[in-house]
Amino acid sequence: MRKVVLIPGDGIGPEITDAVVRILDAAGAELEWEHCEAGLAALEDGDDVLPEATIEAINHHKVALKGPCTTPVGEGFSSVNVQMRKQFTLYAAVRPVRNLPGVKTRFDNVDLIIIRENTEGLYSGVENEVTPGVVMSMKVATEVGCQRIARWAFRYATVRQRKKITVFHKANIMKMTDGMFLRAADTTHKRDYPNIDYETAIIDAGCMRLVQDPAQFDMLLLENLYGDVVSDLCAGLVGGLGMVPGANFGDNEAIFEAVHGSAPDIAGKGIANPLALLMSAVMMLNYLAETDSHNAHHDVADRIKSAYDLALTDGAKTGDLGGTLSTEEFADAVIERL
Ligand code: NAI
Repeated sequence: MRKVVLIPGDGIGPEITDAVVRILDAAGAELEWEHCEAGLAALEDGDDVLPEATIEAINHHKVALKGPCTTPVGEGFSSVNVQMRKQFTLYAAVRPVRNLPGVKTRFDNVDLIIIRENTEGLYSGVENEVTPGVVMSMKVATEVGCQRIARWAFRYATVRQRKKITVFHKANIMKMTDGMFLRAADTTHKRDYPNIDYETAIIDAGCMRLVQDPAQFDMLLLENLYGDVVSDLCAGLVGGLGMVPGANFGDNEAIFEAVHGSAPDIAGKGIANPLALLMSAVMMLNYLAETDSHNAHHDVADRIKSAYDLALTDGAKTGDLGGTLSTEEFADAVIERL
């Protein structure tokens, strides 16, 4: 049994993690969960938003499956997600965005991998009031950070046999920060990966091209904020936030989580789509199969993937995809098809 950390999170987090754990157990995943808290749930239990015990558990087991965590808007505590990514230097967020069978959308040929730099940019959290009525937020880019995400993206493209990387940037305006990000990608491409197709696009025009014809892109490489925003835009191309999984990788640890948040508008109703977290768990199993050289994890991942593809094809869907199933009923539909 491989022990991994499980963080249910806030809002719909506990509902979707319960459903996903049930599916993984039914599929025979050789996993043992170490339950940990983070976010509002931890705060309400009188702990820090990112408790020391959770940090220790992730340090120890190296891999976590995480539900979404709420961050209050405008005031209150700072994001536990940002803290976690910084704590473990999880600098590469990977978000595969693909059409799934049975889910009708405007496009039927979307197959994108988004690589988001996860630790720098405007998420450095350095904000201050210069004088009453004037506030500022610092966008931070480092050469080390820009180069490591560029190398990571090109290495990923090579290993996964992807064809092209497009960098979205705004280096025409942010000449130093986005300029550094762009130069790191340019140099990495020219020096080390000339065989991978490469292009750059100013992000506003890039977004227009994305919503007109997403099939012209293969992999997108973006700094932190652009990656955050474009991930949700791309989710909209394939049916919504319930459809896009994600992983946050550092050199030592990996945390798997859906792109979506804690969805307070539907929390507690039992209607959230567990698919994005389930797909994140499939990514985790494939990662464990590779890092632990344990092929059985690959087999379980394949069985789960086939089962949810089949469930969707048969019309089993939650409300966000136009269906009528509850979170639990969708989980049952997947389990029946394992
Ligand atoms: P959100 O992603 O939680 O929700 C946006 C919309 O999508 C809502 O209408 C919601 O009902 C729907 N939605 C999201 N996931 C869904 C699912 N699995 N099934 C069905 N519908 C789903 O984004 P929002 O409202 O901007 O953020 C809510 C909270 O989540 C905030 O506190 C935010 O900071 C946090 N958040 C946490 C993230 C994380 O933990 N990784 C990521 C994004 C946001």
